[in-house]
Amino acid sequence: MEHTIYRGLEGVHIDTTQICRIDGLKGELIYRGYDIRELADKVSFEEVIYLLWHDDLPNAAQLEAFKTELRPHFAVPDAIFNLMREYPKTVHPMHVIQSAVSILAAFDDQADDIGLDNVRRIGAQLVAKFPTIVAGFERVRQGKEPIAPHPDLGIAANFLYMLTGETPSEAATRVMDVALVLHAEHGSNASAFIARATASTLTDVYSAISAAVGSLKGPLHGGANAAVMKALEQIDSVANVEGYVLDTLAKPAGRVMGFGHRVYRVLDPRAIILKGVSHQLAEESGDSKWFDMSLEMERVMEREMEKKGRQVKPNVDFFSASVYRMLGFPGDMYTPIFAVSRISGWMAHLYEQYADNRIMRPRLIYEGPVGRKFKPLAER
Ligand code: SDX
Repeated sequence: MEHTIYRGLEGVHIDTTQICRIDGLKGELIYRGYDIRELADKVSFEEVIYLLWHDDLPNAAQLEAFKTELRPHFAVPDAIFNLMREYPKTVHPMHVIQSAVSILAAFDDQADDIGLDNVRRIGAQLVAKFPTIVAGFERVRQGKEPIAPHPDLGIAANFLYMLTGETPSEAATRVMDVALVLHAEHGSNASAFIARATASTLTDVYSAISAAVGSLKGPLHGGANAAVMKALEQIDSVANVEGYVLDTLAKPAGRVMGFGHRVYRVLDPRAIILKGVSHQLAEESGDSKWFDMSLEMERVMEREMEKKGRQVKPNVDFFSASVYRMLGFPGDMYTPIFAVSRISGWMAHLYEQYADNRIMRPRLIYEGPVGRKFKPLAER
């Protein structure tokens, strides 16, 4: 019997969803009916989390109640910071997040309850704790004490506050909110798929989220933003960009990080917004080095992909690299920041998966040997 193989599950739809729609030909992204270009600089990350987890944006009273629900969950057990102090300085921050998720599971005596109310309780805990974990690790690895979350600040401002102890400016908070809104949700991307596939065995939320964190870390997925900055730092000037791109494309299966997408065949709408943010930060800071290099890389890739007849455009990770650099984050923090946002999308997918589950179990077509004659060890 002939089987069709969909490598990388390209084009395969695993279920229906109410959360998000991506139109790869038009370059459109909607969260529960709202166009991302409408939402990006008009709502806070908390409003988007509420939208992803309910069926509409919150009104003022609902938003206030949601923020009140999250606030007590910002704090994390000392065990997490104590473990961070034991880690080698070289540990990858995504491993720190993954282990923190497991510690949170250990301290939650309801961890294994996958009833919807409990899943929502855990979701609120995780979305509130991820910023504290990431900011706390950055402080600990600098040999500093973690800063307790500020009771009056929202997630975006609190994340920046917990890094420095200074209340961030309106402008910096706005940029952080835009970045978190843009990275919150993107359909069945690899890490969301892994979250759903893991939850489909009816294991607990923490196990599913830990698996998703591991998937996001990969350079073909959420790890790409850090890889973009690593490349830009290695290139170090606009004049060297063209040579780098040509050398990379000349390598077998060479990939220029931050470009290409399995679904978008035109510019990722999030990249367009982040390009504008990067430009604005470059103008405000007076240092346009990383933005200028990014523009040059986009130009050369456009030209080279045209020659190859390929639609390979900047994705969300491309301009977010220069944005995070100009916000002062170290390169290996870019993917953790992605996780601080995407935990909201992963939880939305878990709500859907647990509510109407079927275990995910794809097939492989065996092409190995058959009918081999067994020989005992003494005869092999
Ligand atoms: C994210 O899925 C999501 O929605 C993810 C995400 C989200 O919000 O969750 O949007 C976030 O992960 C964005 C992607 C970040 N990753 C990168 O920037 C890594 C670099 N990109 C590529 O590795 C690649 O484009 C992927 C992984 C993003 C997509 O992989 P596909 O769909 O398997 O595409 P492919 O590798 O088969 O490439 C198809 C063609 C190839 O041409 P041929 O070899 O067939 O001639 O396009 C070319 C590739 O050469 N191509 C690239 C390229 N990406 C695709 N060529 C050069 N550089 C690239 N980056």
